[in-house]
Amino acid sequence: MAGKLKIRVDQDKCQGHARCKSLAPELFNLDEFGNAHEIGDGTVPAGLEDKAWLAQTNCPEIAIEVSEE
Ligand code: F3S
Repeated sequence: MAGKLKIRVDQDKCQGHARCKSLAPELFNLDEFGNAHEIGDGTVPAGLEDKAWLAQTNCPEIAIEVSEE
């Protein structure tokens, strides 16, 4: 069985495009500057894996890292 996915937003790269938040609101929050942060410790709940990859591929700054645990 595949391991769980984990996401992380690189704060040095994120420019607040917010595509991640609109594509996967379950996985990202925006702070007061409009920059995204992974919710909780970034572990992707079962069933939301596709959204994690979708957010990653749609971030113009390539700020989202998806790793498999
Ligand atoms: Fe930032 Fe990319 Fe989301 S720039 S707000 S991580 S789409």
